[in-house]
Amino acid sequence: MRYFFVTTPIYYVNDKPHIGHAYSTIIADSVARFKRLSGYRVFFMTGTDEHGLKIEREAAARAVTPRKLADDVHTKFKDLFKLLNISFDRFIRTTDPDHESTVQTAFKKLLEKGDVYLSEYEGWYCVPDETFLTEKSLVEGNCPQCGRAAARVKEKSYFLKLGKYESRLLDYIESHPGFIKPSFRKNEVVSFLKEGLNDLSISRTSFVWGIPVPGDENHVIYVWFDALLNYLTGIGFGDYLKYGNKNGGETFLRFFKTANHVVGKDILKFHSVYWPIMLFALDLPLPETIFAHGWWLMDNKKMSKSLGNVVDPLDLISEYGADALRYYLLREVPPGLDGDFNPDNFITRYNSDLANDLGNLVSRSAAMLAKYMGGEIPGASAGEDNPLLSFADDLAGGLNERYDNYEFSKILEDAFRFVNMVNKYINDNAPWKLNPEEEDGLKTLKKILRTAFVSIYYASYFIYPFMPETSGKINALLNVGPFEFENVKIERGGGLKGFAGGIFNRAHKINMDEKARGVLFPKK
Ligand code: MSP
Repeated sequence: MRYFFVTTPIYYVNDKPHIGHAYSTIIADSVARFKRLSGYRVFFMTGTDEHGLKIEREAAARAVTPRKLADDVHTKFKDLFKLLNISFDRFIRTTDPDHESTVQTAFKKLLEKGDVYLSEYEGWYCVPDETFLTEKSLVEGNCPQCGRAAARVKEKSYFLKLGKYESRLLDYIESHPGFIKPSFRKNEVVSFLKEGLNDLSISRTSFVWGIPVPGDENHVIYVWFDALLNYLTGIGFGDYLKYGNKNGGETFLRFFKTANHVVGKDILKFHSVYWPIMLFALDLPLPETIFAHGWWLMDNKKMSKSLGNVVDPLDLISEYGADALRYYLLREVPPGLDGDFNPDNFITRYNSDLANDLGNLVSRSAAMLAKYMGGEIPGASAGEDNPLLSFADDLAGGLNERYDNYEFSKILEDAFRFVNMVNKYINDNAPWKLNPEEEDGLKTLKKILRTAFVSIYYASYFIYPFMPETSGKINALLNVGPFEFENVKIERGGGLKGFAGGIFNRAHKINMDEKARGVLFPKK
């Protein structure tokens, strides 16, 4: 059994989600869906980051308890993820009891080991980013990352020894080229490491909303130390601690070694420096990959609550549907780069790619099949136009590598190139000009329609991880079940043989209900 563990960042509950949050989550969901289809045992985790000063302050501003704020806002993420068809296996909250226990256990372990020690922190802190800052990194007294005012802090604190593991981490990064993706981000991390690391403050005493340090309850554990450990809690760290590598504890390590953490570039340092060092200190293996995506900008500025330039995903979903949003976000931007969210561009893509190219292909093919074949896709004996289907086979064969590199925009570009090739194929062959009453006419018509439908099935497969709802509708129209490993069996480089060919070998009737043949994407 091949395992695959994929995670999103856990989201702060100071405010409702925007498309930046939807983005990390849709990326992870698309990968999870593809891996499941490829036969992996997948665990996909998302959730909310509920502790810390930022949340405590927001709760005070709203005159509610932090707990109440977290209870209210975390449901907004859950509701959004439901609308977006996010197939998570666990939605973790850092206030979940099993997580609090992970954090305290880890803290205690490191304290006993001598990797954590008590001292005093004096320096700068950015509350919105929950980040300690060095004096020299400040830009006119402000946080270099978000531009907001940094606060001066002086308080007792526990520290994690980072220097002890610095060179081990450098070696690890150099010898594991797939650890940080895209590769151009690796250099940033390496140069940060080469500057030398100050020990990391991992507890605070000036507020209370956090997990208490075991045995020293004046301190709450630093929110990032708490948050990063969610990746262990969700896959059974508790069982692993109790039973080691047996009685279910073994799945913990199996999953963790395959971890792919999807994160925004702003939080790469936490994931590629602090997190690996925490894992070294805990004697655990490192995740397989940290993939840092770029930001969604609005007029070239990062979308964020404080700038008031956020796009609400709920508005887009209610107007265009979840799949249109999923498609746009993953189609538009190459791996790791920023994207500018442009509403006109969104509508253009919707109308041209989804309504015209894909939607019309499906509806006009179904109409022709109804008219000429009584709704029956001819079987393999009708023959196929192979260049088109070989192109699809080649695409299918290259998918693993593309997904491994998070090249969604390329996958979708190719999928829609294929859709357009099928549209062109139909136009060039003009089946409506053929006479089904004549033997030759009927033969050619059968071949064209068969090719079109096998292609549509392929297209449905290509888009499935990104647009599960649309793919489900196409499959329902084709009268076949949703894509699952068991009925698709696409192995590495797999092609038509075990796939479209299998299901459509014999003549196969599509679903002629009006509902099944409804418009996929109404024009806007
Ligand atoms: N709570 C931390 C993460 C802890 S993970 C152990 C956090 N939360 S966040 O809510 O501020 O951000 C979560 C994710 O959303 C980050 O990956 C961040 O990059 C992403 N986005 C927030 N705004 C964004 C855009 N405008 N565009 C794209 N993604 C951005 O950080």
